[in-house]
Amino acid sequence: MMEILYVRIFGRYAGVLGVAGSVRAPEDWRFEYDAAYLAYEQAVALSVSLPLQSAPFEGAVVRNWFGNLLPEGMIREAICARLKLPVWDDFALLGAIGGECAGAVSLSADFDAGGGDALASQALEAELLQSGWRGSAAEMALVGTPRRLSLAGAQDKIAVVVHADGVIRMPATGELTTHILKPDSHRLPGLRDLEALGLTLARALGLPVAHAELRTVAGEKALLVARYDRAVGPTGDPVRLHQEDFCQALGHPSEQKYEVQGGPSLAACANLIRFQLRLGPLAIRQFLDWVIYNILIGNADAHAKNLALLTPQDGRRQLAPFYDLVPTIAVPERYVDRVPAMNVGQAKAIDQVGYRDWEALATSTGYKLPFVRARLRQMAEEIHHHLPDVVTSLVNDGAERTLLDSASDAIAKNVARAVACFESSARTAKK
Ligand SMILES: Nc1ncnc2c1ncn2[C@@H]1O[C@H](COP(=O)(O)OP(=O)(O)OP(=O)(O)O)[C@@H](O)[C@H]1O
Ligand SMILES: [Mg+2]
Repeated sequence: MMEILYVRIFGRYAGVLGVAGSVRAPEDWRFEYDAAYLAYEQAVALSVSLPLQSAPFEGAVVRNWFGNLLPEGMIREAICARLKLPVWDDFALLGAIGGECAGAVSLSADFDAGGGDALASQALEAELLQSGWRGSAAEMALVGTPRRLSLAGAQDKIAVVVHADGVIRMPATGELTTHILKPDSHRLPGLRDLEALGLTLARALGLPVAHAELRTVAGEKALLVARYDRAVGPTGDPVRLHQEDFCQALGHPSEQKYEVQGGPSLAACANLIRFQLRLGPLAIRQFLDWVIYNILIGNADAHAKNLALLTPQDGRRQLAPFYDLVPTIAVPERYVDRVPAMNVGQAKAIDQVGYRDWEALATSTGYKLPFVRARLRQMAEEIHHHLPDVVTSLVNDGAERTLLDSASDAIAKNVARAVACFESSARTAKK
């Protein structure tokens, strides 16, 4: 027997996702676009890996794409324990929490309704204060579970609605969320301050990046990030933009988000942007900026689920603004690996990328080395210029001074080293 979920994109019924049998093996998955959706002139494909076609898709390509919408790691375990679902059962989890996902996609076991109970909107802080903040590792995700909210990633988070007066609300059933709220990490206190630093510094440099601010919610520090996949529609209400991350676009499961696990490489991402999708010079430049910025701030966690494609309803794909930018070199190495999430040449650590690695990076991703060097130098200067003010403003907003000062030192050292490796190679070349 085939179990099914109805798939909507931009609120429009687009097709049926099905799985046969109880084992949920990748080969048992199936997705078929609806004929009426295919006939719709503004139909947008769910994914590069699931283009518009009448023949059904079967197997891992289907399971991988939909599974990538779900939370990972301990957050997923907590949600599955709460819902009494087997932790490996992607399909059941999509049915339970896939009402509001990343991008314009929404899944439901009912054709008409959003699925689950109809819940009214509610102020998040009041709910947390009333029901008690246990500070568990998946506190926010569990609050979002009955509202059928699903976001990928290993960190706790909830999709919320933020009012013009600044009040953060949990959405009513079927309501579009506008922001993502991430409380501080249980395992690594201060991680949200570091993410705020990565995102705010990127903004100061003029890079395209999700807007983020530190907030105190129910007495706990959290990072509030504006959703770049939501926009204000013609009637003033929020509308969806579609997105998919690079694991989804390239057909990898979330278990392969790191290159070492068999996941996408920088060359594969560049190839998709340049040749397969032909996104054009702006996107090609934006991708290079993403790579250089992550190396300069020492983010070893810039994996393929931390880079996305954004598709408005007109179907014109672009590279999404940057998100989840964390200078992980500021976290003790025993907690977070320094090995780059996607290989940069032969570099063993994100703070050891040398001249030969930059050379290999340029070659494998199709950029001229002098262009890479010029952009790196410019970004290095801008980081040097903006870092102190960004740290001060974040400390004023509640970030921990000691942590940000040490992160700032680590970033400055890493940036200086990157610039120096080009200069010493130029001196060697002149000799
Ligand atoms: N500002 C945003 N707007 C829209 N979607 C976003 C935004 N930030 C993140 N996302 C989506 O949510 C997913 C998870 O977010 P994020 O990467 O911040 O979580 P995380 O748990 O910190 O990730 P990781 O597992 O890499 O640590 C992303 O892969 C992306 O699809
Ligand atoms: Mg992430």
